[in-house]
Amino acid sequence: MKFFIDTANLDQIKEAQALGILDGVTTNPSLMAKEGITGHDNILKHYVAICEAVEGDVSAEVISVDFEGMVREGEALAELHPQIVVKIPMIKEGVKALKYFSQKGIKTNCTLIFSAGQALLAAKAGATYVSPFIGRLDDVSTDGLNLIQEIRHIYDNYAFQTEILAASVRHTMHIIDCAKIGADVMTGPLSAITGLLNHPLTDIGLAKFLEDHKKGN
Ligand code: E4P
Repeated sequence: MKFFIDTANLDQIKEAQALGILDGVTTNPSLMAKEGITGHDNILKHYVAICEAVEGDVSAEVISVDFEGMVREGEALAELHPQIVVKIPMIKEGVKALKYFSQKGIKTNCTLIFSAGQALLAAKAGATYVSPFIGRLDDVSTDGLNLIQEIRHIYDNYAFQTEILAASVRHTMHIIDCAKIGADVMTGPLSAITGLLNHPLTDIGLAKFLEDHKKGN
């Protein structure tokens, strides 16, 4: 399972990278705004800085909602750095753009996926990744993990190459459950990733080992 970090915060990206378990980064316009990255040139510079801080794929989202605009923006983003993956919303024009980029060999991440039907369409259009938002589904009392399961089933039925990128991950159990189901990738906050480290028995066990070592010396 690949681990992506879902942030535009460079310090957090570098911290996850330093752990040695990071496979990529996802961003979105809200995450960029949260870091105070505004203005076209600053946003592009920030994408490059993120690419230089990590080794894997970096999703950069288009703002246009029409096919021509998405193509124009997506091509410019893809030219920024070889690690850029063009993030496209799941709308009718987006499906056309996914097909266009797939034919040009440009990687895409189809975002805002909330149903199996949308994931099927994205795979048919040749998306590299689909991003079902499990946390946001949970927020409206709908089982986000069930959607991951449905998409896994459909993609396996037809051997679709599109990777399931479980997004809107909020906590450690989301990561563990997505791994059990067989999501190809998960993207979550640093807190969810480092949360996987924690177990009280590890802390108790380590304290005892260190204490016993001191006694023996
Ligand atoms: C995915 O690519 C999105 O950036 C993200 O996972 C959305 O998460 P949120 O629902 O916590 O905003």
